[in-house]
Order: sequence, then structure tokens, then C-alpha cells
Amino acid sequence: MSTRPLLNRSLAGMGTTIFAEMSALATATGSINLGQGFPDTDGPREVAEAAARAVLDGRGNQYPPGPGVPELRAAITEHQQRFYGLTYDPDTEVLVTAGATEAIAAALLALLEPGDEVIAFEPFYDSYAACIAMAGARRVPLTLRAPAFRPDLDELRALITPRTRLLLVNTPHNPTGTVLTPEELAAVAELAVEHDLLVVTDEVYEHLVFAGAHHPLAALPGMRERTVAISSAGKTFSFTGWKVGWVTGTPDLVAAVRTAKQYLTYVSAGPFQYAVAEALRLPDGYYADFRADLHRKRDLLVDGLTAAGFRAFAPQGTYFVTTDITPLGEKDGLEFCRSLPERCGVVAIPNAVFYDDTEAGRSQVRFAFCKKVEVLEEAVSRLHALRTG
Ligand SMILES: Cc1ncc(COP(=O)(O)O)c(C=O)c1O
Repeated sequence: MSTRPLLNRSLAGMGTTIFAEMSALATATGSINLGQGFPDTDGPREVAEAAARAVLDGRGNQYPPGPGVPELRAAITEHQQRFYGLTYDPDTEVLVTAGATEAIAAALLALLEPGDEVIAFEPFYDSYAACIAMAGARRVPLTLRAPAFRPDLDELRALITPRTRLLLVNTPHNPTGTVLTPEELAAVAELAVEHDLLVVTDEVYEHLVFAGAHHPLAALPGMRERTVAISSAGKTFSFTGWKVGWVTGTPDLVAAVRTAKQYLTYVSAGPFQYAVAEALRLPDGYYADFRADLHRKRDLLVDGLTAAGFRAFAPQGTYFVTTDITPLGEKDGLEFCRSLPERCGVVAIPNAVFYDDTEAGRSQVRFAFCKKVEVLEEAVSRLHALRTG
């Protein structure tokens, strides 16, 4: 057998995602899993019933149309109009994907050439690095640093070179919880226009903003024609296993992403697409209650972690809280997370794995709060053992 490495070199060293490693550790040790970002309560019953009905009524059980079922594409355009005043044509400016994950992969594979540079905030959501690498492009991190985790806009300007093709902007930002302010968004947009860059936005936490508001970059002057906006139903409706995501953008951008997407999955989640169309049309009260529930849980976990001795950085958005473990006499988040299940039966994620500049995130650890109140309370009480034990 050849000695050539089996794994394509663009993926060398990427191994298993940290989520798989930590979720396996949670199962093996019976720990409370505040690592991976999935809710422990399913989304609205009527949405689940809509999915069941679609299966039983034979809607979506065979390959749905490549761009997504018309009902869902229409619901996505209504959502963009209702929340942001953005108008999209459901036939040419919307694409349904297998979660935001496929949308990110398809967008990057479609829009990048080998050697292109992509600027993204680090810590990065882990699929960004892999997808940029699979496209043969180079990631250029703009480091969000504790305690404020704001992007340094002068640094952003300095990172732009003639090879820069694309800005990949995640707001609300996982794992730091940063929500870009209108001023920051305007500065990012100005740079994109000035340097004629494409922009891919990852907005999967768009309905989880506790301070300020979510503003899509596509709504800013000069941005609609250069922005591929991505979101998904997983977070907003608490059905992360359904993997229904979407892209909105100009017909040219959407056609480019669709070209890559059709050879990744072709189509997915047929019956779930009908259910997500109903979910997107839920009244404002659903969205408000969802946000209020997570807001309460954020406060519970931030206060609990602080009382347990962590330095907790209250997130403005998402359902994650980043902490610093230095006050506990700890330095290394990866070691800490590997030992935590054994020490006190809780699983968390080390932020260092999301940084190229691992030193910048070495002592940071992320906890998810999309869990039942009693689960969060139990986790906090277990974490108190770190101080006493
Ligand atoms: C920032 C970010 N983008 C994308 C995703 C993936 O979304 P989906 O499950 O819809 O593929 C996640 C999930 O954790 C995320 O945190």
C-alpha cells in the first residue's frame, strides 16, 4: 500500500471535531453536557406535528426541488421582510440547504479560488477553517480578544490585501457572544465596498440577541449585491437535528452557491422544510418568549459560574458563555475541559481550539446554556466543587 497520507492535505491535522470528543466524554462519564450547542428541550409541538404531518401526507418524502420547497422559500422571504425589511425573490434569491453548515461549505467552495484570502473573526466556528481549506483558500484571522471581544477595525483594514476575496462575518458570534454594533457593521460594510469584497454572513443566532439588536449586513448601503446571508432553523426553533438552513442573496450569488450545493447533498430534509415554513411564520410572541427564556438562562449561568470562581463574560447574543479559568488557578482550557468530567461531572468546550492564535484563547472555556433550568442549576452546583474540592 502506498505511503501517501490517506487524508487530503487540506484536511490534515483537523482530526475529530472537539464537539464529538467532548460529547463522547459526556456520555462515557455520565456528565452534564454544556459543551455542544444543542437544546435539551425540543422546539414547538405544532412545528413537530407539521413535520409528522408532512411525512404522513407524502410531502417531501421524495427529492424536493433543488432550491428548496416553494412554501419554505416563500416563508424565508417573508421572514427577511418582517424582521429586517429586506426583500428577496423566493424563486431566484433563496436557497435551502442542509443546515447552515452546508450553506457555509457551498458558499465558500463556490466563491473562492485557491490562493484567495478570507478574513474571519477568531475564535472561529470550527467548520470555517475546514471549508476555507477545502476551497484551497487561506484564512486570515482577526482576533477578538478578552475581555471585550470587539473587532479592531484598524486591524481589519490592515489585514486586507490584494488577495482578499471575502469577509466571513458571524454575528451574533459563537463562542464569544459578541453582537456587532451598527457602527462596527457600518465600518465592515465600508471596507467591503471600498475593496470590492464578497461577504458571507453567518446569522444562525439572529433571534438570540439580549443586548442591542441583530442587524443584517445585507441591509447596509452597497451590501446587498455582495452578501451571501446564511441562517438556519436549528437554533431559532430548537430542532438542531433537522438541519434546515438557507441562503439569501442576489440571483448571481445564489446561483453560484446552488451550483456547489447541488453536488454536496443535492437536496435534504424534505418534510422538515414544510415544518420550518410554518415555524418561520410563528407570531412575534414565539420569538420574544424564546429570547426571554434564553436570557433568563444566560443570567442564571453567568451568575452561577461567577459564584463558582470563573470569570464569566456575559454574552450579548447566542446561547454560549465564554469564561476565563485563571481565577480558579487554571491556565489551560483544553486540559481543564478534558479533566472536568472526571472532577465534577460537567462537560465544556475549550475556546483555544477555535483560535489560530491559541495563546489568545488558552485560558477560555465555553459553556452552553440552552438547557433546562434544573440542569443548569445542577451543573453550577457541581462546578462549585472546583473551589472546595
Ligand atoms: C456560528 C454557527 N454557524 C453555523 C452552525 C451550524 O448550524 P446548522 O446546525 O444549521 O448547520 C452553528 C452551530 O452550532 C454555529 O454555532
